[in-house]
Amino acid sequence: MFELLISFIASTGLFVVFGKVLVSQTKKLEGILHKDSQNQIVEFQEENNQKIEAYKDGFQNIKESIQETMNISHESLDLLTQKIESRKEKTESVLKIVNELEKKHQEILKKEKELVSSSIEVLEKKVNKSKDDLKKEIIKDMDLKTRASNQTDLTYYVERTKKFQERVSNNILKSTIQRVTAESSVDKSSRILKMPSKNSFQRILKDPAILEVISKTLGVEIEPLEREYSFRVSSFIMWNSEIAKKVLSKMALSFKFDASKLDSTIQSAKQEFQRHLISVGKKALAKLGLKDQTPYVCEIVGRLNYRTSYGQNILKHSFETAYLCSLIAAQLGANQKVALLGGFFHDVGKALDQEVEGSHDVLGMEFLKENGFPFEIYHPAHSHHHAVEIETIEAQIVIIGDKLSASRQGARTESMEMYLQRVKGLERIAKEEKLVQKSFAVSAGREIRAYLNNHQSKDSDMSKVASNMVHKIQEELIYPGKIKVNIIREFVSTSIANKK
Ligand SMILES: [Fe+2]
Ligand SMILES: [Fe+2]
Repeated sequence: MFELLISFIASTGLFVVFGKVLVSQTKKLEGILHKDSQNQIVEFQEENNQKIEAYKDGFQNIKESIQETMNISHESLDLLTQKIESRKEKTESVLKIVNELEKKHQEILKKEKELVSSSIEVLEKKVNKSKDDLKKEIIKDMDLKTRASNQTDLTYYVERTKKFQERVSNNILKSTIQRVTAESSVDKSSRILKMPSKNSFQRILKDPAILEVISKTLGVEIEPLEREYSFRVSSFIMWNSEIAKKVLSKMALSFKFDASKLDSTIQSAKQEFQRHLISVGKKALAKLGLKDQTPYVCEIVGRLNYRTSYGQNILKHSFETAYLCSLIAAQLGANQKVALLGGFFHDVGKALDQEVEGSHDVLGMEFLKENGFPFEIYHPAHSHHHAVEIETIEAQIVIIGDKLSASRQGARTESMEMYLQRVKGLERIAKEEKLVQKSFAVSAGREIRAYLNNHQSKDSDMSKVASNMVHKIQEELIYPGKIKVNIIREFVSTSIANKK
């Protein structure tokens, strides 16, 4: 217990001593800190005072410069005000002058008007016409004079242009025709097939059924010509006649020909002729610089050699048209190659129009288009009979080339006998119509004009008579191309005016 008490007292004494030391140390520290703070405050105050002095100086400078600027602005403003004042004065004086001038101008106008109206009054009195009437007359007169002068000028220039056009086109046509020395394009192919011998001719005739089958299969007519040991082979489609001739030639060479061999003979003749057409077409196209064309295109072109129009061989006509077009194009500055090909292909549809429904211009265009030819080549074929509007100069040239080729001397033939037969036939058909009073075959038998009896017929009869005649022409006459039937019903009223 005592020990405990002693240790308690000892520890308490230590604690008191330690506390005193701590207090004295704290006071010392406090003194040090207080001294430092005071020093810092003094330094800070000094620094601030310096800065405030510097700001004061700066402010004084700015104040002085603002004062200076304001003084300058005041001076400028005064100057400007003075200038405006002087301008104002000047403007006012100018306005005064303008007003005076305007006044004078108005006075002059007034005097002018008075003068004009007094003159008009004098004039009206003299000519006895009102101002408005005079005005109208003057305008009319001026209008007429202007029109007359314009018309004269226009007529003069139109006439001059026409003459010039005529001269130029005549020169072009003359030089073109003179440069083309193509052989006659008349078709000279024979329809007569002469047999190699009397025996072969008679052998074929032994079995008429065979000839009948050939006729039916190929759509041809075969007529034996006894005296010449020949056959006349004719057909609407000329290449079928050629195939039939080939079949007959093969039969003539075979000593033991019978009906069982007919089918294969016809087939081989067809194939042979197709190969021939392809070769003809290939050669023709090569002449135009067109290589690598398909066998079908070559075959169709080859067919043109076996197609005629008014006796003119279409392949020859196509070449002739092509060269003519090329020459015209050169003189007109058009595309020669396009004109050449457009001219060559213009009638290519004629290789198709006997087997396919449609006109040759449209069929030709479709064929060329389907086989990859461009617009400028198929357009002339399409437009050369004006089925569509002409869109290129080369298509226009093709129309001229086609006409030149068809119309040049000896280009087309038709026997006089055929022509007379057609004209007579047309007039007979017209006469057979009860309502027809008179009729004339015109345009070389390509048109018939029938006049109806005016008293016995009505307008509605016209189309009936026309369709009757068209039907009979188609049934009874043989003719190339088309025949136009014109029905005319005239009403003529005549009165005579006698002298009073
Ligand atoms: Fe044509
Ligand atoms: Fe033609």
